[in-house]
Amino acid sequence: MLRLSLTIIVLLLLTSITTYATPVYIPTDRFLLNCGSLSNSTSPDGRNWLSDFEPKLAPNLSHSTPSIAAEQAPSIPLVPYMTARVFNSQFTYTFPVSYGPKFIRLYFYPSSYSNLDKTRSYFAVTANMYTLLTNFSAFLTTLSLQPTQFSVVKEFVINVQGSQWLNITFVPVTNSYAFINGIEIISMPNNLYYNNPSPPRLVSIDLTEFDVDFNVAFETVYRLNVGGQSVSGPDDTGMFRSWLQDDQYLYGNSGQTPPKSNVTIQYTAETPPYTAPDIVYRSSRTMGSDPYINLQNNLSWIFQVDSGFYYLLRLHFCEYQLEVTKPNYRVFSIYINNQTAEISADVILWSGGSRIPVFRDYVVSLISDNDEMKKVDLWLQLHPYVDVHPYNWDAILNGLEIFKLNQSDGNLGGPNPEPSKVSNESSPHPRKETTSESQSSPMRAIIGATVGGVLAIVGVTVFCFFQILRRRRSTNKDLRITSAAKSSWVPFSFTSWQTKTSNSSLPSHLCRRFTLLEIRMATGDFDESFVIGTGGFGNVYKGVMDSGMTTVAIKRLDQASNQGAKEFLNEIELLSELRHIHLVSLIGYCDEDGEMILVYEYMPHGTLRSSLYKTRNPPLSWKQRLQICIGAARGLQYLHTGAKHMIIHRDVKSTNILLNVKWMAKVSDFGLSRFGPTQFDHTHVTTAVKGSLGYVDPEYYRRRRLTEKSDVYSFGVVLFEVLCARPAIDPNLPQERISLTEWARRNYLNGTLDQIVDPNLKGKIIPDCLKKFGEIAESCVRDRGIERPTMTDVVWGLEFALQLQESAEKTGSGSGLVYVVADSYGTPARPSTSGWVTTSTENDALFGSDEDGSNTRSTITRTEESCGDRANKSCDHDCVFSEILDPKAR
Ligand SMILES: *[C@@H]1O[C@H](CO)[C@@H](O)[C@H](O)[C@H]1NC(C)=O
Ligand SMILES: *[C@@H]1O[C@H](CO)[C@@H](O)[C@H](O)[C@H]1NC(C)=O
Ligand SMILES: *[C@@H]1O[C@H](CO)[C@@H](O)[C@H](O)[C@H]1NC(C)=O
Ligand SMILES: *[C@@H]1O[C@H](CO)[C@@H](O)[C@H](O)[C@H]1NC(C)=O
Ligand SMILES: *[C@@H]1O[C@H](CO)[C@@H](O)[C@H](O)[C@H]1NC(C)=O
Ligand SMILES: *[C@@H]1O[C@H](CO)[C@@H](O)[C@H](O)[C@H]1NC(C)=O
Ligand SMILES: *[C@@H]1O[C@H](CO)[C@@H](O)[C@H](O)[C@H]1NC(C)=O
Ligand SMILES: *[C@@H]1O[C@H](CO)[C@@H](O)[C@H](O)[C@H]1NC(C)=O
Ligand SMILES: *[C@@H]1O[C@H](CO)[C@@H](O)[C@H](O)[C@H]1NC(C)=O
Repeated sequence: MLRLSLTIIVLLLLTSITTYATPVYIPTDRFLLNCGSLSNSTSPDGRNWLSDFEPKLAPNLSHSTPSIAAEQAPSIPLVPYMTARVFNSQFTYTFPVSYGPKFIRLYFYPSSYSNLDKTRSYFAVTANMYTLLTNFSAFLTTLSLQPTQFSVVKEFVINVQGSQWLNITFVPVTNSYAFINGIEIISMPNNLYYNNPSPPRLVSIDLTEFDVDFNVAFETVYRLNVGGQSVSGPDDTGMFRSWLQDDQYLYGNSGQTPPKSNVTIQYTAETPPYTAPDIVYRSSRTMGSDPYINLQNNLSWIFQVDSGFYYLLRLHFCEYQLEVTKPNYRVFSIYINNQTAEISADVILWSGGSRIPVFRDYVVSLISDNDEMKKVDLWLQLHPYVDVHPYNWDAILNGLEIFKLNQSDGNLGGPNPEPSKVSNESSPHPRKETTSESQSSPMRAIIGATVGGVLAIVGVTVFCFFQILRRRRSTNKDLRITSAAKSSWVPFSFTSWQTKTSNSSLPSHLCRRFTLLEIRMATGDFDESFVIGTGGFGNVYKGVMDSGMTTVAIKRLDQASNQGAKEFLNEIELLSELRHIHLVSLIGYCDEDGEMILVYEYMPHGTLRSSLYKTRNPPLSWKQRLQICIGAARGLQYLHTGAKHMIIHRDVKSTNILLNVKWMAKVSDFGLSRFGPTQFDHTHVTTAVKGSLGYVDPEYYRRRRLTEKSDVYSFGVVLFEVLCARPAIDPNLPQERISLTEWARRNYLNGTLDQIVDPNLKGKIIPDCLKKFGEIAESCVRDRGIERPTMTDVVWGLEFALQLQESAEKTGSGSGLVYVVADSYGTPARPSTSGWVTTSTENDALFGSDEDGSNTRSTITRTEESCGDRANKSCDHDCVFSEILDPKAR
């Protein structure tokens, strides 16, 4: 039922979006830049925001820092506010645009980015020859807005001429920084605000015409749907302007709002459909029904603006009430800043009839005698004009836009709101407060005080949309979990996992519980472009946490697959017990809202495979490769022998070996892992075959018997991959070379291994080392598990190979010690009796006798660790070899 209704809401939302599909104006230029975001993202209104990692638009990217908001107010939409780009020095975005006027919208969400103090960000913004903002503080600006409004949008209108570039430059004040969350550039019809058939009148004694030519730039300071609801985004004409409610700017008697109409607005050549959406013209504010009260009053609005500028006011009118059809019905005077702008306004006379919209422009100078820029009040007042004996003593207004015009030097920037007013909002405009309080519907509370607030509405819609989608998602999933609970796994895994975490078997400093919001912010709300990998369980995302301080890999359970859920929980269980330098470590998890998400350390160098072939990076050196192999082998060795229970990875492959920033290898992806046999069980686990093509142990495949030697086999394949830098299976190659294992093994046995090594390594591997390496790899991929070495053997063999390489490089390859050791050791002719190859019956090497298997294991671990440490610090060869050569020492 709930699901049904949610679906309906979503459908309604979608339907209402589809109705905007044909806006009356289609912009020719449109840029939506989600600054600091790695990915392109789509906002629920269907608009695509591009990542600004685009060298063409931002040539100086390296002089900036992409960052993520440290906190996020719930009403703030993730796109574009979740990410920002932060600048410590001048930074320019360059947009190729066509000639003509454009809207520039700058989106700011003052939050802490990269641990910077949000109160200390002051900067200027210029666009071509205009200065849009000076000494701007987004923090102070939002503080002066409604308490519910945390973000601000600054909208400008600029005519691009001379060259087809729009260069937007951010210039931090000295010792400060600049930031930007989003940039929108959208073209508009040439004659929307410029070149009007009836030029604006300068509000002065003689009401001269004021020339607003194409050289003038504007800042939109207010745009109101007078007497109506807020209109924004797709509800506008295609330019995504936002029209706010006017209530909070009313002063004194607030008049009345005649019921909204559903009449068809008849646009004209003078007032084309893109002038304002018809919603604006279908609602209005009038004075009231009592003409005598009207006569005693003004219908007044009051706006705070910066002094030192001219302002352009565009008043939108439309008589849509059916009874108003003739001139002289409603005639009124318009006062701007207590000066008469229009003596007798008669909408029907101006427009020619009912339901025909019309607008009038006025320019007013707020240039005061003393130069000082400060915030001043701008008044707009309407009063019935009775000298012509109109039918009704009333006035009407439908919409209002107020623009600031640039100063003669091209500047539009004004002072920040004064901190005193900021901290104590109530005093300057008592009316403002009472209005919003007395009519505090939730919508009103959310709608902000300036144009900046406009986007809050979009934001709310976006957020609700997210919420709905999310609730829908989790509803689905809850259902699924419930049904899954009827099958076997959930009661066990899920509860044991939960108790485990609450018993903090994961040390809290190592395993952190993330909120879903943090995860969503880190991943652009699970945006596709953050995906860095996909597993059987779902996606892995790259994310940035802690204001960009920590990069993490975020694994999210694909809710469509119960199988994935099972493996996911399996991995949590395993990982909560496993800590090893060569295993990818778990940073935390998120279990909020039914989500099951794991957060891992991020491995900047990606998978081993991606560093071996099909890479643009320089090839890894042989020593690096050996070290990576040793690291991965140690990780697997730990899984097999170091943990409480033996753990069989089951999916060892070059894409499950990840490389950290120091190229250290770490084994990842335990989604398929299985606990190995315990002392009470038999010596193997019977399971359905899982794994990856080219890596699966043939014996396991044939006999469905899983032992740790299956991992050894797969690791052998990886070793050949490292040596030859080609995939385990390459169907494009001739038949005999498709399987790397077959091919490499044949070459090893023919003594031609050196001919198939990665060309980048040709001549760089000491022959003894290559021989040793080949021997290890070959022994790993033998058909029968019992003929394969243990991971411990493999670790030591690889360390030995590394030492052969290192000593030879250091001393020249004729070193006696190396030679002797190699000779005494490297005789692979009879593998089953070689010192490091398991000789006993299946699994005996690991478990010893049935009774004391675990003891044997712990002994192995201890011995290995102590020697391993010494080996790392290049303990002398004898130590290593005595261990290797004498199986009893283990
Ligand atoms: C974003 O979209 C643009 C245009 O569609 C494309 O050129 C660009 O590669 C995309 N960027 C990312 C990070 O996906
Ligand atoms: C790039 O940034 C540097 C340092 O902030 C600045 O000096 C230079 O002018 C910038 N270049 C461009 C093309 O914006
Ligand atoms: C904008 O930047 C482009 C490319 O850097 C440059 O060619 C152009 O002259 C600049 N235009 C303006 C108006 O600054
Ligand atoms: C407009 O509303 C009136 C009543 O409020 C209704 O009778 C009329 O059908 C509506 N017209 C349209 C076009 O929706
Ligand atoms: C209406 O406003 C005008 C301009 O400020 C003012 O001159 C006039 O006195 C006002 N009328 C009333 C009734 O308040
Ligand atoms: C304009 O008139 C209003 C009252 O109608 C008054 O409060 C205000 O101070 C006047 N402004 C100027 C600049 O005279
Ligand atoms: C706005 O700036 C342009 C360019 O600097 C200038 O030509 C124009 O006169 C300015 N407008 C006003 C109203 O001062
Ligand atoms: C910048 O704005 C802040 C806050 O309004 C103000 O204290 C400071 O003096 C301004 N700096 C300049 C150079 O105007
Ligand atoms: C706001 O002003 C009132 C009275 O002017 C004062 O009592 C109160 O402390 C002020 N609040 C703040 C936060 O400054």
